[in-house]
Amino acid sequence: MTRAPLPRYGSDPLEEGLSLTPLPDPPPEEGLVVERSPEGHLRVRRLGPGAPGALLVDHRSPESARRFSEGKKGLLGRATGIARGSRPVLWDATGGLGRDALQLARLGATVTLWERDPVVRALCREGLERVGEGEDELAQAARERVTVREGSAVEGMAEHLRSGASPPEVILLDPMFPERGSALPKLEAQMLAALCGEGGCPEEERALFEAAVALRPHRVVVKRPRHAPEIAGQPADQRFEGRSVRFDLYLPRTPSGA
Ligand SMILES: C[S@@+](CC[C@H](N)C(=O)[O-])C[C@H]1O[C@@H](n2cnc3c(N)ncnc32)[C@H](O)[C@@H]1O
Repeated sequence: MTRAPLPRYGSDPLEEGLSLTPLPDPPPEEGLVVERSPEGHLRVRRLGPGAPGALLVDHRSPESARRFSEGKKGLLGRATGIARGSRPVLWDATGGLGRDALQLARLGATVTLWERDPVVRALCREGLERVGEGEDELAQAARERVTVREGSAVEGMAEHLRSGASPPEVILLDPMFPERGSALPKLEAQMLAALCGEGGCPEEERALFEAAVALRPHRVVVKRPRHAPEIAGQPADQRFEGRSVRFDLYLPRTPSGA
């Protein structure tokens, strides 16, 4: 089931970045506020009683440390081919907060991240900008291998195809999925759902999948909750299953591929 995004206050998207605006007076009873924390970090907070904590992107969190510790032999490394020694040029077509993108860049990939929502993109950009503050060279080098692009990846992929430029080697898709079974930590999944809607839109998933396959990269990797149906009803060439998440691998260049 899909659910619409909540109304948001406190921000106007500009062509480059985001401009913060004051809350209406009196303040709304529900919705989302985009604001800066007392430490100056961009965050999104839910209004109303019982609202969960605020969403900001901190790649030094224990959750990020756990992801980074998976290394190349983790699910993401295996599904993208990095475990076999490649350092692919990769497009993350549904970039979100940039968690997968940074994990992949740490494993050696050069990542172009597409995010169409201006607030999510601003959170992602700031999270990436903070990487490296007081951290090792690996973290700084990884951050420099991630480029953030705005707009719809479906259009970006179609335009790339028309241009005749060589395709990325790997395309990762992680479309929104109804909260239950999401691979992101609970608060992040809840807040992303409140920002972008609860997802599970078959037409959007199909458009992403078809645009990715049309580019004929070596691999299209689709992240799904473990028991979710395959994207666009397309059987995967290979599956990499974890406890709550699954990566479906499609090989558009092999004769039996999608
Ligand atoms: C589940 S989140 C991705 C989380 C991400 N993998 C991470 O590690 O943070 C899905 C994101 O994809 C974005 N999205 C969905 N369709 C898109 C499209 N066609 N182009 C660009 N971004 C898209 C949504 O705005 C949302 O932020």
